[in-house]
Amino acid sequence: MKKIRFTLTYMIYTMKKLSFLQIIAFLLLLTCASCGTQDDLIDQPPYEQPEERPDELPDELPDEQPQPTATFRDAPYLIGCAVVPSLLQNNSKYAGVVQEEMSSITPENALKMGALSRGRGSYFWDDADYLVEYAANNRMRVHGHTLIWHTDLPGWVTGFSGTKEEWIALMQEYIHEVVGRYQGSIASWDVVNEAFNDDGTYRNTIWYENIGEEYIRLAFEFAHEADPTAILFYNDYGMEYSMAKREAICTLVKDLREEGVPVHGIGLQMHIDMYRSASDLKASIQAAADCGVWVHVSEMDVACNPEKKTDFTFTEKIAQQQKDSYQAMSEALLSLPAHQRFGITFWGVCDAHSWLTPAPDAPLPFDSNFEKKPAYEGITGTFDK
Ligand code: G3I
Repeated sequence: MKKIRFTLTYMIYTMKKLSFLQIIAFLLLLTCASCGTQDDLIDQPPYEQPEERPDELPDELPDEQPQPTATFRDAPYLIGCAVVPSLLQNNSKYAGVVQEEMSSITPENALKMGALSRGRGSYFWDDADYLVEYAANNRMRVHGHTLIWHTDLPGWVTGFSGTKEEWIALMQEYIHEVVGRYQGSIASWDVVNEAFNDDGTYRNTIWYENIGEEYIRLAFEFAHEADPTAILFYNDYGMEYSMAKREAICTLVKDLREEGVPVHGIGLQMHIDMYRSASDLKASIQAAADCGVWVHVSEMDVACNPEKKTDFTFTEKIAQQQKDSYQAMSEALLSLPAHQRFGITFWGVCDAHSWLTPAPDAPLPFDSNFEKKPAYEGITGTFDK
């Protein structure tokens, strides 16, 4: 009896001191040892004493366990950035951020007509091909930017003279060639970029001049013919500050969709500055969503030195204000139904390579050394809200 009491006391003592695994091992050994005599059990402890005893567990575990930090890849929508092939190839830090953080890429310039088209029927595909292959190897979405725009045009187009039908043929040929080449590998396209002025009137582009407002509808139809699976966007800036432009874009998209034209999304470029109010951001995102289409924040950056002062310094206060803008944008996107959140694309990887610099500024979530800025956390902090 005395031996049994001693055994039980011994078991309770050891169980208090042991980890779960050690307890399991202890019970298994006890089961085996029960084949022997009780004397055996007492005289030979059923496990080898560890040289160092595990630390005492605290009476209560702390409520808050440290959580792994969220990254852009944990977002409840796709996060991407505009990329430049030569930087991906030659700058390992740049490539590292893209690979670790991004789920989508937009060629910053490589898919523009000025970069692709060397003459009628003559194309330079190398950069675009490289990016499409890069994305496939890294399981990223490619967003194509941009088919029909008024700028970055090759000389043979700006110098072209022809009838309306000849201009339509030129546009059709170009869109079919480019979209057709990447059918199935470029998921989505900015089909028409920046067709409106800030007052909501049509911008007087080479396309508008030669074809009329019909060029927009035709561009979407040609893109759809070339890749019926691609998601097709109208892309523009200014919906956050110009009611007239917002109205014009929404009317265009709704009207086209009512006519059965394949317009699937609105891209809001969002080249904003840190003074833009959260309510402006939210209202423009909501207006786009109210058209019943995908919403893409397609070129986001937050300028901190819109006045372009030469003595600009990126202070902690400015960093917080910029963080608030990024946070507001992510919250606005998250307020939409999941099936309308196409994602957020930053216009560049880090501050050093932004189109806004070398003028002194710091518009992106990564600084010039590829370190995360408070803006990064402004975005990731919204993921579980
Ligand atoms: O590639 C040539 C290079 O060979 C040459 O030596 C150099 C000399 O200036 O120019 C290089 O091309 C420049 C290109 O960027 C690549 O750096 C062009 O001149 C320059 O005009 C071009 O600027 C781009 C601009 O669009 C015009 O296409 C910017 O990088 C790009 O960030 C900007 O992006 C636009 C979006 O497409 C539409 N929304 C607004 C946004 C910002 O402007």
